[in-house]
Amino acid sequence: MRGKSILLVIGGGIAAYKSLELIRRLAERGVKARAILTGAGAHFVTPLSVSALTGDKVYADLFSLTDESEMGHIELSRAADLVVVAPATADLMGKLAAGLANDLASTALLATDKPILMAPAMNVRMWQSPSVRRSAGILARDGVQFVGPNDGDMACGEFGPGRMAEPLEIVAAIEKMLEVRGGALDGFKALVTAGPTQEPLDPVRFLANRSSGKQGYAIADALARAGADTVLISGPVEIAPPSNVTLRKVVTAREMLAACEAELPADIAVMSAAVADWRPDIAANSKIKKDTEHKAPAIRLIENPDILATLARHKNRPRLVVGFAAETDDVLANAVGKRARKGADWIVANDVSGNVMGGDRNQVHLITAASQEHWPEMSKTDVAHRLVQQIARQFQERS
Ligand code: C5P
Repeated sequence: MRGKSILLVIGGGIAAYKSLELIRRLAERGVKARAILTGAGAHFVTPLSVSALTGDKVYADLFSLTDESEMGHIELSRAADLVVVAPATADLMGKLAAGLANDLASTALLATDKPILMAPAMNVRMWQSPSVRRSAGILARDGVQFVGPNDGDMACGEFGPGRMAEPLEIVAAIEKMLEVRGGALDGFKALVTAGPTQEPLDPVRFLANRSSGKQGYAIADALARAGADTVLISGPVEIAPPSNVTLRKVVTAREMLAACEAELPADIAVMSAAVADWRPDIAANSKIKKDTEHKAPAIRLIENPDILATLARHKNRPRLVVGFAAETDDVLANAVGKRARKGADWIVANDVSGNVMGGDRNQVHLITAASQEHWPEMSKTDVAHRLVQQIARQFQERS
């Protein structure tokens, strides 16, 4: 985690003193923390002690002209690799769950495109109250991760869940989120499909789509960095392949399927290619000529094999099969149906009605049998990194 940076939001709670310790523990590991102190937080720790430990100014005011000219609140929320809220109060959780932003901390939380980790700390009855349960549920579905709270004696004299996790537990959670430990997927084989397929009509014409391959290439790169032996099976694209993967270039859907089957058995399959659903039933051997009577030729289409569904039902089925669902409407409902229909374990769903195809950013939902996470818009590299973190976690839990 050396060299990474964290935006630490310190909320108002007696546990705020532990956040000072957290900053020290992070610094020992080469992680730089920049801090936002809420108004309530400043009642428990002073800006001076936070600033002395971070070696930076403390950000506190949404409407500070100096802060905005030095580093605007949007930039502040995005410059870090991860946002950590410790202590996460009922107020901060409720605001983020409801989409409220009336101070620097809540605004930065809404504006960030980075993963968020919360270390809640509050009275046990508050933690168990229906509204905080509701906020926690919404935040978890939105992809916010939690560390703690722990059970124990509380400053208010009660006993139960509500104590903030200890600084070293928070450091461990940060470590898990920040990097897929080098080697987390050592010994596993991954297959990734990416890009479009081209379905020939004749030697010079084909049916294809606008897929750039960027998302799939980023996923292959992230899998390989996590240690997986990664084979990238790619349709025709304009981008350079990552250097750490084995590249198999294909053109048509049938070639892509054959290349995938040739690589089985594998542990992980991430099918991000925009495979053409249909192909012309006949690919002419020579260029189709214009008719002298200007009669346009009729093209009959036939269905291509479904690579994802085939691998998901294969006798050598990879242990984790991840599909993509690019939709222009009813994104979630369609993706949930697709997961079941195709037999995938997870579906990464995205709305492609904007300029996602070819663009550098993406906003996705991760759908599994048990849950739905709605990730904020982020770069395709960050989507890849976060997906691979989830994959690594899945394999660590299983082994
Ligand atoms: O049905 P749809 O094309 O929307 O499904 C998308 C998912 O299915 C993607 O993961 C894509 O890679 C995969 N797919 C496939 N073979 C096809 C069509 C789609 O593997 N012929």
